[in-house]
Amino acid sequence: MVVSNDYSFGTGPCLFIVLLQSQMCMSERETWATRTGFIFAAVGSAVGLGNIWRFPFAVGEGGGAAFLLVYLLFIALIGFPAILVEFVIGRRTNLNPVGALQSLATGPWRYIGYLFLVTGFAIMAYYSVVAGWFVRYFVIGITDGYTVADPEAAGALFGSIATGLDSLLYHTIFMAAVIGVVAVGIRDGIEKAVKFMVPAIIVLLLVLTVYGATLSDAGLAYEYYLSPDFGVIIDQWQTLLPLAAGQAFFTLSLGMGVMITYASYLGEDRNLVKDALTIIGFDTGIAVLVGFAVFPIIITGAGIEAAGEETVNAIFVSLAAAFSDITGGRILGLLFFGTVALAALSSAISILEVVVSYIIDQFDVDRRPATAIAGGGIFLLGIPVTQDLIFLDLLDGFVNGILLVLGALLLVLLVGWMIPDAGRDELAKGITDIGKRGDIWLWLVRIPLVVVLVVTLALGIEGYFEFLTGSFSEWLAS
Ligand code: PHE
Repeated sequence: MVVSNDYSFGTGPCLFIVLLQSQMCMSERETWATRTGFIFAAVGSAVGLGNIWRFPFAVGEGGGAAFLLVYLLFIALIGFPAILVEFVIGRRTNLNPVGALQSLATGPWRYIGYLFLVTGFAIMAYYSVVAGWFVRYFVIGITDGYTVADPEAAGALFGSIATGLDSLLYHTIFMAAVIGVVAVGIRDGIEKAVKFMVPAIIVLLLVLTVYGATLSDAGLAYEYYLSPDFGVIIDQWQTLLPLAAGQAFFTLSLGMGVMITYASYLGEDRNLVKDALTIIGFDTGIAVLVGFAVFPIIITGAGIEAAGEETVNAIFVSLAAAFSDITGGRILGLLFFGTVALAALSSAISILEVVVSYIIDQFDVDRRPATAIAGGGIFLLGIPVTQDLIFLDLLDGFVNGILLVLGALLLVLLVGWMIPDAGRDELAKGITDIGKRGDIWLWLVRIPLVVVLVVTLALGIEGYFEFLTGSFSEWLAS
């Protein structure tokens, strides 16, 4: 089905509609050809390093089960209504995030798009570096196999990969791949990759989960992961809240316009609530599964303290150990690191695409130069991260503690207070009998969501300030 629209994107949407059957582009505005097209692309964006790499270290930082509980509540009570906010904006306007906000909003709200641009740059700069590590581990599987079981040696191996020339090399390779796909548009390749990736990740995680269950400290790990200490939640809500919120937005690709863009290609017959539930279900299911897979391995290998350390290397160290131990570990490891790299690619594409489509519209340049400029800038911004992990904290903290929450808050305020009728009306389309649910959603958006997001943002800014005046100044002084 093709729906025309006066608004022209240049070549922008051609690439974004990776799963469209129709090859037409430009001035004709298309909609997703199939239900799965949209779902796959949105799941492809959501499932990525957020689930596999960031989630376990956020769990570690948040003290295990206490974090998991707050995170799940956050996904259900905040992430779900917030993803619907982005969906209604996208489908209402059929425009990219910049155009969408300019057509819907008035006053300063019209410029929220600039914030998305900053967020996109900041995320991509370190996302690419971390994705590069996965590519590097994939290559290790080819050249040497996974032979390091001892946590200390595995940690040293990670250290040699994470910073320095190696890291720069793989950041370059990953960025080149993302730029290539966004500039040229290898639609079919990405489509096939996404379709293969999600089931593959699930199967591989299940294998690792079964393996983890056989380890000696599996019981301890499940307890750490699953039985929350409510005292901890009450005592530490000020750290848990921004941590869980940042993770929830990051993992669902919310707060920077990605879901607005994807939903802008949706037809009016689609049930947004159902689609949101499917996407969230896949994304959350995969993250939770990662916990089941890795915590038994981490805790058996390096003790409960290791799980509680907020370390960016946890996943690499624990998996290197697992793959060295499992029969067929080399093949499994190759599949695992390769699949995660693909998952990271499909997420990275969605991030760069927001920035690129913005540049195309704003400066009226062609897709290729726009991609080269944006991708080149991001590549440069990522270089410091490849040399010192403090820059990873600097960017990740800024993105997750502040930018994504701020982006989501502004969108929620817009839909909840400035264009509530349009929002409710848009949500109702494609739903046979929405009844009072549209109003319930709207009230959730207008008050509880705003309150929680304001509090979360304040705590996030405070936490980030502490980082800047604490570890970061120490680093600067040293
Ligand atoms: N959701 C992606 C992941 O979990 C990251 C992402 C964040 C993508 C924001 C787009 C926008 O890896």
